[in-house]
Amino acid sequence: MEKTLVPPLAQAQAPTVSRPVPRGGARWDWWDWWLERKTRWVRDPRPQMDAGVFRALAAGTGLPAIHQKSTFAFRSVRDGAERFLGMSKGGERPFARIYTRLGNPTTEYLEKVLFQLEAHHVIEKALAEDEKEPTIGSLIFGSGMGAISTLLLSLVKSGDAVLTGNIYGCTDSLLRNLEKFGVEALFCNMGDVAEVKRMLEEHPNVVAVFLESPENPTLRLADIEAISRLTEAKGALLIVDNTFCSPYLQQPFRLGADLVIHSLTKFINGHSTSVGGALLGPFRFMKTDFFPWYKDIGATPSPFDSWLNSANIQSLAVRQEAECESAEEIARFLKTHSKVETIAWPFLEGFPQAALARRQMRLGGSLISFEVKGGAQAGEKVMNYFARKDVPMELAVSLGSTITYIQHPASMTHSVVPEADRIARGITPGLIRLSVGLEGAGVLIHHLDRALKAT
Ligand SMILES: Cc1ncc(COP(=O)(O)O)c(C=O)c1O
Repeated sequence: MEKTLVPPLAQAQAPTVSRPVPRGGARWDWWDWWLERKTRWVRDPRPQMDAGVFRALAAGTGLPAIHQKSTFAFRSVRDGAERFLGMSKGGERPFARIYTRLGNPTTEYLEKVLFQLEAHHVIEKALAEDEKEPTIGSLIFGSGMGAISTLLLSLVKSGDAVLTGNIYGCTDSLLRNLEKFGVEALFCNMGDVAEVKRMLEEHPNVVAVFLESPENPTLRLADIEAISRLTEAKGALLIVDNTFCSPYLQQPFRLGADLVIHSLTKFINGHSTSVGGALLGPFRFMKTDFFPWYKDIGATPSPFDSWLNSANIQSLAVRQEAECESAEEIARFLKTHSKVETIAWPFLEGFPQAALARRQMRLGGSLISFEVKGGAQAGEKVMNYFARKDVPMELAVSLGSTITYIQHPASMTHSVVPEADRIARGITPGLIRLSVGLEGAGVLIHHLDRALKAT
Protein backbone atom coordinates (compact mmCIF):
# COMPACT_ATOMS: atom_id res chain seq x y z
CA MET A 1 0.00 0.00 0.00
CA GLU A 2 1.20 3.48 -0.83
CA LYS A 3 2.49 5.43 2.16
CA THR A 4 0.34 8.40 3.04
CA LEU A 5 2.34 11.59 2.99
CA VAL A 6 -0.44 13.83 4.21
CA PRO A 7 -3.13 12.75 6.66
CA PRO A 8 -6.58 12.34 5.06
CA LEU A 9 -7.44 15.85 6.17
CA ALA A 10 -5.02 17.38 3.72
CA GLN A 11 -5.87 15.29 0.70
CA ALA A 12 -7.30 17.69 -1.76
CA GLN A 13 -10.86 16.87 -2.67
CA ALA A 14 -12.26 17.30 -6.10
CA PRO A 15 -13.05 20.83 -7.09
CA THR A 16 -16.65 21.75 -7.69
CA VAL A 17 -18.06 24.31 -10.05
CA SER A 18 -17.63 27.89 -8.86
CA ARG A 19 -20.57 29.46 -7.12
CA PRO A 20 -21.44 33.08 -7.74
CA VAL A 21 -19.75 35.42 -5.32
CA PRO A 22 -22.36 36.97 -3.04
CA ARG A 23 -22.56 40.74 -3.35
CA GLY A 24 -23.08 42.82 -0.23
CA GLY A 25 -22.20 41.46 3.19
CA ALA A 26 -19.31 39.04 3.03
CA ARG A 27 -17.51 39.30 -0.31
CA TRP A 28 -16.69 35.61 -0.42
CA ASP A 29 -18.99 32.85 0.75
CA TRP A 30 -16.04 31.01 2.31
CA TRP A 31 -14.81 34.06 4.31
CA ASP A 32 -16.49 33.28 7.65
CA TRP A 33 -15.53 29.61 7.37
CA TRP A 34 -11.92 30.66 6.76
CA LEU A 35 -11.80 33.29 9.52
CA GLU A 36 -12.99 30.78 12.06
CA ARG A 37 -10.27 28.29 11.08
CA LYS A 38 -7.69 31.00 10.72
CA THR A 39 -8.29 32.06 14.29
CA ARG A 40 -8.27 28.54 15.70
CA TRP A 41 -5.59 26.79 13.65
CA VAL A 42 -3.80 28.90 11.09
CA ARG A 43 -2.35 31.79 13.08
CA ASP A 44 0.29 30.29 15.30
CA PRO A 45 2.50 32.17 17.74
CA ARG A 46 4.65 29.11 18.56
CA PRO A 47 8.32 29.05 17.52
CA GLN A 48 9.08 27.93 13.98
CA MET A 49 9.02 24.25 13.13
CA ASP A 50 12.03 22.31 14.34
CA ALA A 51 14.70 22.14 11.59
CA GLY A 52 14.87 18.34 11.80
CA VAL A 53 11.11 17.97 11.44
CA PHE A 54 11.22 20.31 8.45
CA ARG A 55 13.91 18.21 6.79
CA ALA A 56 11.96 15.01 7.37
CA LEU A 57 8.79 16.52 5.90
CA ALA A 58 10.73 17.86 2.92
CA ALA A 59 12.19 14.41 2.29
CA GLY A 60 8.59 13.21 1.94
CA THR A 61 7.82 9.58 1.23
CA GLY A 62 10.25 8.97 -1.61
CA LEU A 63 10.01 10.47 -5.04
CA PRO A 64 6.93 9.75 -7.15
CA ALA A 65 7.01 8.24 -10.63
CA ILE A 66 7.25 10.82 -13.40
CA HIS A 67 3.84 10.81 -15.05
CA GLN A 68 5.12 12.60 -18.15
CA LYS A 69 1.83 12.43 -19.96
CA SER A 70 -1.02 14.73 -20.85
CA THR A 71 -3.98 12.38 -20.53
CA PHE A 72 -5.01 9.38 -18.41
CA ALA A 73 -6.99 6.37 -19.58
CA PHE A 74 -10.32 5.72 -17.84
CA ARG A 75 -11.29 2.24 -16.69
CA SER A 76 -14.77 2.64 -18.12
CA VAL A 77 -17.17 5.34 -19.26
CA ARG A 78 -18.62 5.42 -15.77
CA ASP A 79 -15.12 5.81 -14.27
CA GLY A 80 -14.42 8.77 -16.62
CA ALA A 81 -17.75 10.38 -15.84
CA GLU A 82 -17.12 9.98 -12.11
CA ARG A 83 -13.70 11.58 -12.30
CA PHE A 84 -15.23 14.56 -14.10
CA LEU A 85 -17.77 14.75 -11.29
CA GLY A 86 -14.88 14.86 -8.84
CA MET A 87 -15.40 11.41 -7.38
CA SER A 88 -12.76 8.77 -6.96
CA LYS A 89 -12.62 5.39 -5.35
CA GLY A 90 -9.00 5.58 -4.22
CA GLY A 91 -9.22 8.89 -2.36
CA GLU A 92 -6.78 10.57 -4.75
CA ARG A 93 -7.60 13.85 -6.44
CA PRO A 94 -9.65 12.61 -9.40
CA PHE A 95 -8.96 15.73 -11.45
CA ALA A 96 -5.28 14.75 -11.34
CA ARG A 97 -6.22 11.57 -13.23
CA ILE A 98 -8.03 13.12 -16.19
CA TYR A 99 -5.75 15.52 -18.09
CA THR A 100 -2.52 17.16 -16.94
CA ARG A 101 -3.77 20.75 -17.21
CA LEU A 102 -6.30 19.84 -14.49
CA GLY A 103 -3.74 18.02 -12.37
CA ASN A 104 -1.07 15.33 -12.50
CA PRO A 105 -0.01 12.74 -9.91
CA THR A 106 3.66 13.82 -9.95
CA THR A 107 2.68 17.43 -9.41
CA GLU A 108 0.20 16.38 -6.74
CA TYR A 109 3.06 14.88 -4.74
CA LEU A 110 4.90 18.23 -4.75
CA GLU A 111 1.68 20.01 -3.78
CA LYS A 112 1.45 17.82 -0.70
CA VAL A 113 5.09 18.29 0.32
CA LEU A 114 4.87 22.06 0.01
CA PHE A 115 1.58 22.06 1.86
CA GLN A 116 3.21 20.24 4.76
CA LEU A 117 6.12 22.67 4.88
CA GLU A 118 3.90 25.76 4.93
CA ALA A 119 1.04 24.43 7.03
CA HIS A 120 2.08 21.47 9.11
CA HIS A 121 0.84 23.22 12.24
CA VAL A 122 -2.66 23.37 10.73
CA ILE A 123 -2.75 19.63 10.14
CA GLU A 124 -1.65 18.95 13.69
CA LYS A 125 -4.27 21.20 15.26
CA ALA A 126 -7.15 20.32 12.94
CA LEU A 127 -6.58 16.60 13.32
CA ALA A 128 -6.60 16.99 17.08
CA GLU A 129 -10.12 18.40 16.71
CA ASP A 130 -11.16 15.61 14.33
CA GLU A 131 -11.69 17.98 11.40
CA LYS A 132 -12.37 16.12 8.15
CA GLU A 133 -12.28 18.95 5.62
CA PRO A 134 -8.86 20.34 4.62
CA THR A 135 -8.24 23.91 5.75
CA ILE A 136 -5.59 24.85 3.19
CA GLY A 137 -5.25 23.83 -0.45
CA SER A 138 -2.07 23.77 -2.51
CA LEU A 139 -1.56 23.99 -6.29
CA ILE A 140 1.57 24.06 -8.46
CA PHE A 141 2.03 26.19 -11.60
CA GLY A 142 4.37 26.43 -14.54
CA SER A 143 5.90 29.64 -13.14
CA GLY A 144 5.63 32.02 -10.20
CA MET A 145 3.97 34.53 -12.51
CA GLY A 146 1.52 31.81 -13.57
CA ALA A 147 0.45 31.47 -9.92
CA ILE A 148 0.29 35.24 -9.37
CA SER A 149 -1.64 36.08 -12.54
CA THR A 150 -4.13 33.25 -12.10
CA LEU A 151 -4.74 34.27 -8.49
CA LEU A 152 -5.26 37.94 -9.30
CA LEU A 153 -7.59 37.21 -12.21
CA SER A 154 -9.65 34.90 -10.03
CA LEU A 155 -10.03 37.55 -7.30
CA VAL A 156 -10.60 40.95 -8.83
CA LYS A 157 -13.44 42.55 -10.72
CA SER A 158 -13.83 45.99 -12.22
CA GLY A 159 -13.84 48.69 -9.53
CA ASP A 160 -11.63 46.71 -7.13
CA ALA A 161 -8.18 47.80 -6.00
CA VAL A 162 -5.11 45.84 -4.92
CA LEU A 163 -2.76 47.51 -2.45
CA THR A 164 0.88 46.63 -2.78
CA GLY A 165 4.41 47.79 -2.04
CA ASN A 166 7.75 47.36 -3.68
CA ILE A 167 7.30 44.05 -5.46
CA TYR A 168 8.94 41.99 -8.18
CA GLY A 169 8.98 43.89 -11.49
CA CYS A 170 6.66 41.55 -13.42
CA THR A 171 4.11 41.43 -10.58
CA ASP A 172 4.28 45.21 -10.51
CA SER A 173 3.65 45.53 -14.25
CA LEU A 174 0.89 42.88 -14.17
CA LEU A 175 -0.94 44.87 -11.48
CA ARG A 176 -0.59 48.09 -13.46
CA ASN A 177 -1.87 46.33 -16.60
CA LEU A 178 -5.00 45.18 -14.76
CA GLU A 179 -6.09 48.80 -15.07
CA LYS A 180 -7.32 47.77 -18.54
CA PHE A 181 -10.04 45.78 -16.74
CA GLY A 182 -10.93 48.61 -14.35
CA VAL A 183 -8.78 47.33 -11.49
CA GLU A 184 -6.72 49.86 -9.58
CA ALA A 185 -3.13 49.17 -8.46
CA LEU A 186 -2.31 51.18 -5.32
CA PHE A 187 1.23 51.46 -4.04
CA CYS A 188 2.45 52.27 -0.56
CA ASN A 189 5.39 51.69 1.75
CA MET A 190 4.65 48.20 3.13
CA GLY A 191 7.34 48.74 5.73
CA ASP A 192 5.14 51.35 7.38
CA VAL A 193 2.08 49.79 9.05
CA ALA A 194 0.51 53.22 9.68
CA GLU A 195 0.66 54.01 5.96
CA VAL A 196 -0.90 50.65 5.08
CA LYS A 197 -3.68 51.38 7.59
CA ARG A 198 -4.29 54.82 6.11
CA MET A 199 -4.41 53.44 2.56
CA LEU A 200 -6.92 50.77 3.60
CA GLU A 201 -9.10 53.41 5.27
CA GLU A 202 -8.93 55.77 2.30
CA HIS A 203 -9.65 53.09 -0.31
CA PRO A 204 -12.69 51.00 0.57
CA ASN A 205 -12.37 49.15 -2.76
CA VAL A 206 -9.17 47.32 -1.73
CA VAL A 207 -9.91 43.59 -1.96
CA ALA A 208 -6.40 42.37 -1.36
CA VAL A 209 -3.02 43.44 -0.07
CA PHE A 210 -0.13 41.84 -1.97
CA LEU A 211 3.26 41.96 -0.30
CA GLU A 212 6.73 40.52 -0.38
CA SER A 213 8.84 40.40 2.75
CA PRO A 214 11.74 40.98 2.55
CA GLU A 215 11.11 43.17 -0.46
CA ASN A 216 13.06 42.80 -3.63
CA PRO A 217 15.79 44.16 -3.87
CA THR A 218 15.85 46.64 -0.95
CA LEU A 219 15.21 43.88 1.63
CA ARG A 220 12.87 46.15 3.57
CA LEU A 221 10.43 44.05 5.60
CA ALA A 222 6.69 44.20 6.01
CA ASP A 223 5.23 43.39 9.44
CA ILE A 224 3.06 40.53 8.19
CA GLU A 225 1.26 39.95 11.49
CA ALA A 226 0.35 43.63 11.96
CA ILE A 227 -0.83 43.99 8.36
CA SER A 228 -2.86 40.80 8.56
CA ARG A 229 -4.82 42.27 11.51
CA LEU A 230 -5.69 45.25 9.30
CA THR A 231 -6.77 43.20 6.28
CA GLU A 232 -8.79 40.85 8.44
CA ALA A 233 -10.69 43.72 10.05
CA LYS A 234 -11.41 45.15 6.61
CA GLY A 235 -12.47 41.87 5.02
CA ALA A 236 -9.64 41.99 2.48
CA LEU A 237 -7.18 39.21 1.69
CA LEU A 238 -3.52 39.24 2.58
CA ILE A 239 -1.40 37.65 -0.14
CA VAL A 240 2.25 37.03 0.74
CA ASP A 241 4.80 36.22 -1.93
CA ASN A 242 7.15 34.06 0.16
CA THR A 243 9.68 33.45 -2.63
CA PHE A 244 12.54 35.29 -0.91
CA CYS A 245 12.30 33.15 2.21
CA SER A 246 10.79 29.76 1.27
CA PRO A 247 8.86 27.99 4.03
CA TYR A 248 12.14 27.23 5.76
CA LEU A 249 12.81 30.85 6.71
CA GLN A 250 9.26 32.13 7.05
CA GLN A 251 5.76 30.66 7.27
CA PRO A 252 3.30 33.44 6.44
CA PHE A 253 0.13 31.50 7.36
CA ARG A 254 1.32 31.47 10.95
CA LEU A 255 1.62 35.26 10.78
CA GLY A 256 -1.94 35.68 9.45
CA ALA A 257 -1.57 35.50 5.65
CA ASP A 258 -4.58 34.24 3.69
CA LEU A 259 -2.71 33.22 0.54
CA VAL A 260 0.93 32.27 0.09
CA ILE A 261 2.75 32.37 -3.25
CA HIS A 262 6.09 30.95 -4.35
CA SER A 263 8.23 31.21 -7.39
CA LEU A 264 9.57 27.65 -7.14
CA THR A 265 12.20 28.74 -9.64
CA LYS A 266 14.20 30.17 -6.74
CA PHE A 267 15.01 28.42 -3.44
CA ILE A 268 12.74 25.41 -3.85
CA ASN A 269 14.25 24.35 -7.15
CA GLY A 270 17.51 25.75 -5.84
CA HIS A 271 19.66 24.79 -8.85
CA SER A 272 18.21 27.02 -11.60
CA THR A 273 17.03 23.97 -13.54
CA SER A 274 13.36 24.87 -14.02
CA VAL A 275 10.72 27.57 -13.71
CA GLY A 276 7.73 26.92 -11.45
CA GLY A 277 5.23 28.47 -9.05
CA ALA A 278 2.84 27.60 -6.24
CA LEU A 279 -0.23 28.96 -4.51
CA LEU A 280 -1.57 27.89 -1.12
CA GLY A 281 -4.77 29.29 0.36
CA PRO A 282 -8.13 28.61 1.99
CA PHE A 283 -9.24 25.19 0.80
CA ARG A 284 -12.80 26.25 0.02
CA PHE A 285 -11.52 29.15 -2.10
CA MET A 286 -9.10 26.89 -3.94
CA LYS A 287 -11.81 24.32 -4.55
CA THR A 288 -14.57 26.61 -5.71
CA ASP A 289 -13.74 30.15 -6.86
CA PHE A 290 -10.13 29.46 -7.79
CA PHE A 291 -10.03 26.05 -9.49
CA PRO A 292 -11.90 27.08 -12.67
CA TRP A 293 -9.31 29.83 -13.24
CA TYR A 294 -6.50 27.38 -12.59
CA LYS A 295 -7.78 24.90 -15.18
CA ASP A 296 -8.94 27.49 -17.73
CA ILE A 297 -5.85 29.70 -17.71
CA GLY A 298 -3.66 26.63 -17.86
CA ALA A 299 -0.36 27.78 -16.36
CA THR A 300 0.38 24.09 -15.93
CA PRO A 301 3.71 22.75 -14.71
CA SER A 302 5.52 20.05 -16.60
CA PRO A 303 5.37 16.76 -14.63
CA PHE A 304 9.12 16.42 -15.07
CA ASP A 305 9.68 19.85 -13.49
CA SER A 306 7.42 18.87 -10.58
CA TRP A 307 9.56 15.77 -10.12
CA LEU A 308 12.76 17.84 -10.22
CA ASN A 309 11.35 20.21 -7.63
CA SER A 310 10.21 17.27 -5.47
CA ALA A 311 13.80 16.02 -5.49
CA ASN A 312 15.38 19.42 -4.90
CA ILE A 313 13.04 20.45 -2.09
CA GLN A 314 14.52 17.59 -0.04
CA SER A 315 17.72 19.60 0.48
CA LEU A 316 16.06 23.01 0.88
CA ALA A 317 16.83 23.46 4.58
CA VAL A 318 20.45 22.33 4.30
CA ARG A 319 21.09 24.58 1.30
CA GLN A 320 19.50 27.58 2.97
CA GLU A 321 21.43 27.08 6.21
CA ALA A 322 24.73 27.16 4.28
CA GLU A 323 23.69 30.03 2.01
CA CYS A 324 22.51 32.18 4.92
CA GLU A 325 25.74 31.50 6.80
CA SER A 326 27.81 32.64 3.79
CA ALA A 327 25.55 35.67 3.31
CA GLU A 328 26.17 36.70 6.91
CA GLU A 329 29.96 36.56 6.42
CA ILE A 330 29.73 38.49 3.16
CA ALA A 331 27.41 41.12 4.66
CA ARG A 332 29.87 41.70 7.53
CA PHE A 333 32.74 41.97 5.05
CA LEU A 334 30.86 44.49 2.88
CA LYS A 335 29.74 46.52 5.91
CA THR A 336 33.31 47.44 6.78
CA HIS A 337 34.72 47.69 3.23
CA SER A 338 36.03 51.15 2.40
CA LYS A 339 34.51 51.07 -1.11
CA VAL A 340 30.97 50.21 0.07
CA GLU A 341 28.47 53.02 0.62
CA THR A 342 25.38 51.17 1.93
CA ILE A 343 24.52 47.58 2.73
CA ALA A 344 21.26 45.79 3.55
CA TRP A 345 20.98 42.31 5.05
CA PRO A 346 18.03 41.70 7.41
CA PHE A 347 19.94 40.23 10.39
CA LEU A 348 22.86 42.69 10.23
CA GLU A 349 23.38 44.95 13.25
CA GLY A 350 22.24 48.39 12.24
CA PHE A 351 19.65 47.12 9.74
CA PRO A 352 16.64 49.26 10.69
CA GLN A 353 14.23 46.32 10.92
CA ALA A 354 16.61 43.72 12.36
CA ALA A 355 14.30 43.07 15.33
CA LEU A 356 11.28 42.45 13.09
CA ALA A 357 13.43 40.24 10.85
CA ARG A 358 14.46 38.10 13.79
CA ARG A 359 10.82 37.80 14.86
CA GLN A 360 9.52 36.76 11.44
CA MET A 361 12.39 34.86 9.89
CA ARG A 362 14.36 31.81 11.03
CA LEU A 363 17.59 33.10 9.40
CA GLY A 364 18.67 36.32 7.70
CA GLY A 365 18.34 35.03 4.14
CA SER A 366 20.89 34.85 1.36
CA LEU A 367 20.02 38.09 -0.44
CA ILE A 368 22.20 41.13 0.11
CA SER A 369 21.89 44.51 -1.55
CA PHE A 370 24.57 47.17 -1.51
CA GLU A 371 25.80 50.34 -3.15
CA VAL A 372 29.38 51.06 -4.05
CA LYS A 373 31.07 54.43 -3.52
CA GLY A 374 31.13 56.07 -6.95
CA GLY A 375 27.51 55.16 -7.70
CA ALA A 376 26.21 53.43 -10.81
CA GLN A 377 29.50 53.61 -12.74
CA ALA A 378 31.54 52.01 -9.99
CA GLY A 379 28.77 49.46 -9.44
CA GLU A 380 28.84 48.50 -13.11
CA LYS A 381 32.58 47.80 -12.85
CA VAL A 382 31.98 45.49 -9.90
CA MET A 383 29.24 43.59 -11.74
CA ASN A 384 31.24 43.33 -14.97
CA TYR A 385 34.06 41.69 -13.02
CA PHE A 386 31.67 38.78 -12.48
CA ALA A 387 30.75 38.52 -16.18
CA ARG A 388 34.13 36.79 -16.61
CA LYS A 389 34.07 33.02 -16.87
CA ASP A 390 37.08 32.42 -14.61
CA VAL A 391 35.50 33.77 -11.41
CA PRO A 392 32.77 32.40 -9.15
CA MET A 393 29.34 34.02 -9.33
CA GLU A 394 27.38 34.81 -12.45
CA LEU A 395 26.14 38.16 -13.69
CA ALA A 396 22.55 36.98 -13.94
CA VAL A 397 19.07 37.58 -12.57
CA SER A 398 17.20 35.01 -10.45
CA LEU A 399 18.10 33.97 -6.93
CA GLY A 400 18.02 31.10 -4.48
CA SER A 401 20.41 28.94 -6.47
CA THR A 402 23.51 27.00 -5.48
CA ILE A 403 25.27 29.51 -7.78
CA THR A 404 25.78 33.07 -6.55
CA TYR A 405 24.17 35.69 -8.79
CA ILE A 406 24.97 39.37 -8.97
CA GLN A 407 22.63 41.72 -10.83
CA HIS A 408 21.57 45.33 -11.33
CA PRO A 409 17.88 45.78 -10.33
CA ALA A 410 17.42 49.24 -11.93
CA SER A 411 18.29 48.01 -15.42
CA MET A 412 17.27 44.36 -15.03
CA THR A 413 14.63 42.92 -12.66
CA HIS A 414 13.04 46.30 -11.89
CA SER A 415 13.53 48.04 -15.23
CA VAL A 416 9.77 47.79 -15.87
CA VAL A 417 9.01 49.85 -12.74
CA PRO A 418 8.72 53.56 -13.67
CA GLU A 419 11.95 55.38 -12.76
CA ALA A 420 10.36 57.79 -10.27
CA ASP A 421 8.76 54.88 -8.40
CA ARG A 422 12.05 52.99 -8.41
CA ILE A 423 13.91 55.89 -6.84
CA ALA A 424 11.14 56.50 -4.27
CA ARG A 425 11.42 52.85 -3.22
CA GLY A 426 15.18 53.00 -2.77
CA ILE A 427 16.10 51.15 -5.98
CA THR A 428 18.85 53.60 -6.83
CA PRO A 429 20.84 53.46 -10.08
CA GLY A 430 23.81 52.13 -8.12
CA LEU A 431 22.05 49.38 -6.15
CA ILE A 432 23.50 45.89 -6.62
CA ARG A 433 21.77 42.67 -5.55
CA LEU A 434 23.61 39.53 -4.57
CA SER A 435 22.00 36.12 -4.14
CA VAL A 436 24.53 34.03 -2.27
CA GLY A 437 24.91 30.40 -3.30
CA LEU A 438 27.00 27.49 -2.07
CA GLU A 439 30.49 28.35 -3.35
CA GLY A 440 31.61 29.26 0.16
CA ALA A 441 32.06 32.70 1.71
CA GLY A 442 35.88 32.71 1.47
CA VAL A 443 36.13 32.52 -2.30
CA LEU A 444 33.24 34.94 -2.83
CA ILE A 445 34.75 37.50 -0.47
CA HIS A 446 38.13 37.15 -2.18
CA HIS A 447 36.63 38.04 -5.57
CA LEU A 448 34.27 40.73 -4.23
CA ASP A 449 37.29 42.39 -2.65
CA ARG A 450 39.21 42.31 -5.96
CA ALA A 451 36.21 43.66 -7.86
CA LEU A 452 35.68 46.48 -5.34
CA LYS A 453 39.36 47.43 -5.23
CA ALA A 454 39.33 47.76 -9.03
CA THR A 455 36.67 50.51 -8.92
C1 LIG B 1 9.59 37.63 -5.46
C2 LIG B 1 9.27 37.03 -6.79
N1 LIG B 1 8.00 36.65 -7.04
C3 LIG B 1 7.66 36.11 -8.21
C4 LIG B 1 8.57 35.93 -9.22
C5 LIG B 1 8.14 35.33 -10.53
O1 LIG B 1 8.49 34.00 -10.59
P1 LIG B 1 8.77 33.20 -11.96
O2 LIG B 1 9.99 33.80 -12.58
O3 LIG B 1 8.94 31.80 -11.50
O4 LIG B 1 7.57 33.38 -12.82
C6 LIG B 1 9.90 36.29 -9.00
C7 LIG B 1 10.91 36.11 -10.06
O5 LIG B 1 12.03 36.57 -9.97
C8 LIG B 1 10.26 36.87 -7.76
O6 LIG B 1 11.51 37.26 -7.49
